[in-house]
Amino acid sequence: MRILVTGKNGQLGRSIYKIVNTDTKIDNNQSSNEFIFVGREELDLSSESSISHYFDSNDGFDVIINCAAYTQVDKAEQEVELASQINHLAVKQLASIASKQQARLIHISTDYVFDGESDKPYTETDETNPINVYGKTKLAGEKTLQEIMPTNAMIIRTSWVYSEYGNNFVKTMLRLGRERDELNVVSDQIGSPTYATDLAGVILEIIKNKEFREEEQATQIYHYSNKGEISWCDFAKEIFTISKIDCKVNPITTQQYLTPAKRPKNVLMEKYKISNIFGINTEDYRKALKNCLKLN
Ligand SMILES: NC(=O)c1ccc[n+]([C@@H]2O[C@H](COP(=O)([O-])OP(=O)(O)OC[C@H]3O[C@@H](n4cnc5c(N)ncnc54)[C@H](OP(=O)(O)O)[C@@H]3O)[C@@H](O)[C@H]2O)c1
Repeated sequence: MRILVTGKNGQLGRSIYKIVNTDTKIDNNQSSNEFIFVGREELDLSSESSISHYFDSNDGFDVIINCAAYTQVDKAEQEVELASQINHLAVKQLASIASKQQARLIHISTDYVFDGESDKPYTETDETNPINVYGKTKLAGEKTLQEIMPTNAMIIRTSWVYSEYGNNFVKTMLRLGRERDELNVVSDQIGSPTYATDLAGVILEIIKNKEFREEEQATQIYHYSNKGEISWCDFAKEIFTISKIDCKVNPITTQQYLTPAKRPKNVLMEKYKISNIFGINTEDYRKALKNCLKLN
């Protein structure tokens, strides 16, 4: 299969690249696949003409994995049009192109499509109600994708993604924890962290799965994160404990740490569906964190 991966410089894109190119343990049977990784230099999702141009000159893809997104949650409150173009309109265009090329489309979405007010984990069919611009644009992307591709696409909602790459909570905590004696971290937002390498492995696993290759599969939404639930504050403590960083973590409330974009309070996602259909094992978040910090 010819597999196009967008967002090659992002956390997920780089994690997929690393597995495909180096990790022979996870990467069994991927060698029969040809992966093409593109960044915004080749395929700029903020430009309709760039997208058309790229696919006019490059076609014959069997699978498109869309890892690219406008992910700056706070900045999105100001850059509404740009966030909407990348997270919604570009997805619409990608879906039309995938449909025309008869390619399968794997699109990544977010727990931020929910408002975080539920007291139990969200299932894939639970009502969405994003409370910030980023979440709204990602939800619009999901909806347009489902409309244009009622079959042959897949949306994977994930949460709290971190990795060795780019900017993320784990890397920020490691840096600040080494610089300071104490830190204030929000303790009333609960979620499940996701090590990008684990999500990348899941996507590659799905591509190998017969279910995925079957003709005319109805487009589905799946939830995936690591197993377990934690607050940002306790996650920071875990990072410091595992890394043996001596930094005190003080719990604070969301009200004490106001950000331009509102954050959902309690977004836990049920992951039974992806586990049942694709036989995916969700790794415990502590184990995943140790793997990322290379302390397993
Ligand atoms: N990070 C999280 O905590 C989180 C949580 C839930 C869901 N997600 C979703 O998971 C997916 C992967 O996220 P991630 O953490 O890997 O994000 P990331 O590290 O921010 O990577 C996003 C990638 O998108 C690319 N991109 C941005 N604007 C673009 C444009 N105009 N044209 C082409 N590419 C563009 C960026 O390119 P540059 O490198 O050139 O800027 C970057 O490589 C996204 O769909 C995201 O919405 C992420």
